[in-house]
Amino acid sequence: MTEIHTPRLLLRRWTDDDLAPMAEINADPEVMRWVGDGSVRDLELTAQDIERWEEEWDEEGLGLFAVELLASGELAGFTGLSWSEFLPDALPDVQIGWRLGRQFWGQGYASEAAQATLEFALQDRGLERVVAAVRPGDEASENVLRKLGMPAEREITHPEHGFPLTVHAIDLTEYEA
Ligand SMILES: CC(C)(COP(=O)(O)OP(=O)(O)OC[C@H]1O[C@@H](n2cnc3c(N)ncnc32)[C@H](O)[C@@H]1OP(=O)(O)O)[C@@H](O)C(=O)NCCC(=O)NCCS
Repeated sequence: MTEIHTPRLLLRRWTDDDLAPMAEINADPEVMRWVGDGSVRDLELTAQDIERWEEEWDEEGLGLFAVELLASGELAGFTGLSWSEFLPDALPDVQIGWRLGRQFWGQGYASEAAQATLEFALQDRGLERVVAAVRPGDEASENVLRKLGMPAEREITHPEHGFPLTVHAIDLTEYEA
């Protein structure tokens, strides 16, 4: 079982108990504002998401971690690695991503989990490069990327939705945890 402890967080695989709190996070339009086309996701879609994320862990040996607060045991959201579902030609690299419930923003949890995820990518999975694709305007993600040392590299267009995405990247062979 892949688990990572950080000072304040447990990054772990998903359980049935995560469905309700993750669905609540996915139902918040503020949380979903910069995710895809901004649509919220209901309980059923969230259940499908979690099932797919668990399959990715089983099949690929990497995926999105459930992020749990060590102090309270609450699910804060996710951080982790994935392959692009929509842009395999333009984005063949493994992507890092994050989504936390609004009450968990502004406390450094996303950056703490993302740093641990980059260490996992390099040390555990042996990946040489990780990318992120963010919508211009998603300043919270840009802030996390700046702290991770992932500069903007190029612009691409989302093939389905047509909006621009900025690709950020890090060469993990030069990354110092
Ligand atoms: C993107 C997202 C995960 C960023 O979360 P976040 O809480 O803003 O990010 P961080 O963990 O870096 O924390 C930010 C702030 O917490 C503050 N903070 C409070 N306590 C802290 C602590 N103990 N340690 C570090 N920072 C702390 C800092 O001021 C920090 O801001 P700074 O870097 O400007 O100083 C969050 O906004 C989110 O879930 N958004 C919705 C989903 C989304 O848009 N995902 C990406 C698009 S697909």
